[in-house]
Formats: sequence, structure tokens, C-alpha cells
Amino acid sequence: MSMGPILETAQLSKSYGRIRALDNLDLSINEGMVFGFLGPNGSGKTTTLALLLQVLRPSSGSFNWFGKPQWDNVRKDIGAILESPCFYPYLSGYQNLMVSARIKEVNLAAIEPVLRTVDLYERRNDPFKTYSLGMKQRLAIASALLANPRVLILDEPTNGLDPQGIVEIRNLIKKIAGTGKTIILASHLLDEVQKVCSHFMVLRQGTKLFQGSVKDALTDQSLIEVAAADMQYLAEILVTYPGVEKVERRDDKLVFKASSMSTAQINHFLIEKKIVVSHLAKKNGNLEEEFLRILAKHE
Ligand SMILES: Nc1ncnc2c1ncn2[C@@H]1O[C@H](COP(=O)(O)OP(=O)(O)OP(=O)(O)O)[C@@H](O)[C@H]1O
Ligand SMILES: [Mg+2]
Repeated sequence: MSMGPILETAQLSKSYGRIRALDNLDLSINEGMVFGFLGPNGSGKTTTLALLLQVLRPSSGSFNWFGKPQWDNVRKDIGAILESPCFYPYLSGYQNLMVSARIKEVNLAAIEPVLRTVDLYERRNDPFKTYSLGMKQRLAIASALLANPRVLILDEPTNGLDPQGIVEIRNLIKKIAGTGKTIILASHLLDEVQKVCSHFMVLRQGTKLFQGSVKDALTDQSLIEVAAADMQYLAEILVTYPGVEKVERRDDKLVFKASSMSTAQINHFLIEKKIVVSHLAKKNGNLEEEFLRILAKHE
């Protein structure tokens, strides 16, 4: 897995008449990332993906894949599902992939491995119309993987699925990412981005508000909670611990930003100070808090 940028955009913009769907996007995505485009409905996620796939023409700005200026040379390295693809209802999953393989000029031998990847091998001979929504989505992903692309692009991959279907697709995305492919997905679901993505950007009304790693965003948000008999003294001691900036009272606990501290370190420190805790826990942050903070910062 090389670590250079696989995609770079410069001032990429798209207007539909008076609507500015994407406004001067500067973005860089590295190989191996699972990159989430996060934003509310109408924020420009699908528009961005369509530009990157050359389904739409930019109004201004530019982008390149793999550092290559020419589109023709890169198309086969990008597998994508923008809208639900058209499969033939009476053909089996396998036969539908034969059709896809012919269109993509891919050897039919590629079909079996992708069916196994998406866990449809057992159902390969059943007609498409008998598939559940989740299975249909997995077949679409199989089709996108046929040419063994370096990049997989997914627009709202779990839309309309039930909880089990959602888990299956998320696990599949992680499995595909584990093979070293770069994945770019659009989602309006914070939870989804948090669970599957390594990196993300936040779009609002066509403008990028934030870009960063999910891990950093979560670390920024994680808190340590602690309680002891003498809360006043506990608070005084805690602020002397390196890295603890502000300690706040929440109900019957004290909370502070965990940064990279572990509860074991804090416990050790407090024991040295002869404080016995009645409660000590690390609470992982969630992207929702970070997301709300990002939006609030740009009000
Ligand atoms: N073909 C079009 N003609 C005119 N306006 C469009 C067209 N497609 C999208 N738009 C507008 O561009 C903006 C961005 O739309 P886009 O579909 O990219 O958002 P999105 O983030 O994908 O939203 P969703 O979460 O609903 O899929 C919206 O204001 C939308 O109404
Ligand atoms: Mg969309």
C-alpha cells in the first residue's frame, strides 16, 4: 500500500444554474484510506462523487486520480456505485455479473472471487429478483469490484437497509478496505462514517467545513470520568496532572478531556496522591459531538 495521494482536487466547483452545489473543494485522499463524505441532504456529496467519476463536468476547478492527468487511463481503476445499478430481475446473480463482466471487458474468471467476497456465492444461481435489498446491494458491490479496481466509490451504501443488512454492508466495506483498496463513500449518517471510515470531510451547502482522521476526532472527544469521597480535593489534584487542562463537575463525577491518557495512568497517579476513586472510566467520544462542534464553529 503506497501512501501518496490517490486523488487530488483543486478548487473543484459545480453549479446547477444558481445553485452552488460544490464550492471550491480542495481535497487530497491517500491510498488505503476509507474516506467518508459526510453532510446533510443536499450538501453536495453525490455531486462531488459524480464529478470525480466524470458523470458530471465541473463548472470550474480540476482533479486528478493517481497523479495522472488523463481520465481514460484511470477509469478501470475506479469501481463505483452511484445509483442502484440496473440488474436483470430474471437473471441470476452470476448471470448478471456475466453481463457486467462483458461490459467491463473483464475475464469471467473474475466473477467467482467477487461473489465470494460479497458472500453471495451460495446464492449465485438464484434470480436477482429473489434477493433481499442487502443482497442486491452486495451484488452491486461485486459488480464494482469485478475489474479489481484500486478505488471503490459508494454513495449512501446502506440506504434503505434493515439493521442486519447495514451491519453486513459495513463489514463488507471493512473487509474490502482490508485488502488495501481505497474506499470513498458518501453518507449522511455520522454513525456510519464513525464505524467504517478512517478519514472524513464534512460538507455543508457545497462547502468543506472540516477534514481529518476519525481517530483524531474521536480522541479529541474522549473524556475521563472520576469520582472520589472528597471531590474538592480530587479536582485540585487532577489539574496538577500533566495534560489535564480543565476539570468539570458533571452530576456526581468530575470529567476532563482524556487526550491520550489511560485510566490506568490516572489511577496510578491518584493512588500516589492517596486518593481512592469510587469511579473511574474513559468515555469514548462520538462523531456526533465533533460534528455538532464543527457545524457550530461555522454558524
Ligand atoms: N441535476 C440537478 N439540477 C439542479 N440541482 C441539482 C441537481 N442535482 C443536485 N442539485 C442540487 O445540488 C445540491 C447538492 O445536491 P447533492 O445531490 O449533491 O447532495 P447530497 O449531499 O448528495 O444530498 P443527499 O444526502 O440528499 O443525497 C442540492 O441543492 C441539490 O438540490
Ligand atoms: Mg446524495
